[in-house]
Amino acid sequence: MIDTSLYSSHIPVMLEQCMALMDPQPGGSYADGTLGAGGHSEAILKASEPDGKLLAFDLDPTAIAIATERLKSYGDRVRIIHDSYVNLGNYTEENSLDGFIVDLGVSSMQLDRQERGFSFLQDGPLDMRFSPEQTLTAADIVNEWPEEDLAEILWKYGEERKSRQIAAMICAERKNTRINTTGQLEAVIRDAVGSGREKIHPATRSFQAIRIAVNGELDAVEAVLPAAVKSLKPGGRLLVISFHSLEDRIVKNFLKKESKDCLCPPEQLICTCGHKASLKELTRHPITADEDEIRCNTRSRSAKLRAAVKR
Ligand SMILES: C[S@@+](CC[C@H](N)C(=O)[O-])C[C@H]1O[C@@H](n2cnc3c(N)ncnc32)[C@H](O)[C@@H]1O
Repeated sequence: MIDTSLYSSHIPVMLEQCMALMDPQPGGSYADGTLGAGGHSEAILKASEPDGKLLAFDLDPTAIAIATERLKSYGDRVRIIHDSYVNLGNYTEENSLDGFIVDLGVSSMQLDRQERGFSFLQDGPLDMRFSPEQTLTAADIVNEWPEEDLAEILWKYGEERKSRQIAAMICAERKNTRINTTGQLEAVIRDAVGSGREKIHPATRSFQAIRIAVNGELDAVEAVLPAAVKSLKPGGRLLVISFHSLEDRIVKNFLKKESKDCLCPPEQLICTCGHKASLKELTRHPITADEDEIRCNTRSRSAKLRAAVKR
């Protein structure tokens, strides 16, 4: 039994902007791929009163317990599913949804709980899994992956300029002792990077990179976008909030590609690809949080919201 009162609340990012783009209506069918504490879900349920329906996914049983408690007054208007949003198509018919949202990344509730091992600010087991059913943990990656693979994820997912030094230090340290805690990893990274003059903690980028690798987060984003388009009705809205430049690039390129009727090279005069646009972009540029929101919720600082409507 999870004591839901133990968890600090997670503030939903760009809630007003999301609701304006999603425009939930009574009688509509919606899905939230990343339920978390249920902030976006609850706003959709409220805006689609009295009979809008919502499917909500999360991999994390703690998030499911917290949001189930929060949304219990909505009764059978909401169905909560403990599964990856990647499997959206297993729970929805084609052309059935009026809106789908994913708010990617980690929640404040996950970051704040030291036993989840997401944060370098508190010592905890080196875990970082969204789902406890998954076997691969951050400790497995840090202790078992070859040095080149470690350097590659730190560079690719963390944009960490000192990726090679950090990977080398991790491999040197693990020869002495297994790196089992966030505190041990943070200390190794701090030694490798030095404190420098950066505003962010020296372990920020590496922890983010390892979390993305543990949870296969970029593959999940790639997979859910076409699944969402299939599940949306014509006129249905797709919203994605991302916190990482690689995620945002995946979303941007997908929306751009799916908003075009032909993907042939520009010098080709006659189309041979036969590609038809399935979407119309609602946000030519990503929407970002305003200063007031950033002041109240620093997490919103790096958020980018993109949206499209199905044709
Ligand atoms: C940023 S939080 C969402 C917060 C939520 N929008 C709110 O208002 O409270 C992201 C959530 O997505 C979940 N998550 C991450 N990857 C997932 C996936 N592939 N499938 C389902 N849930 C996922 C995480 O466990 C986390 O609870």
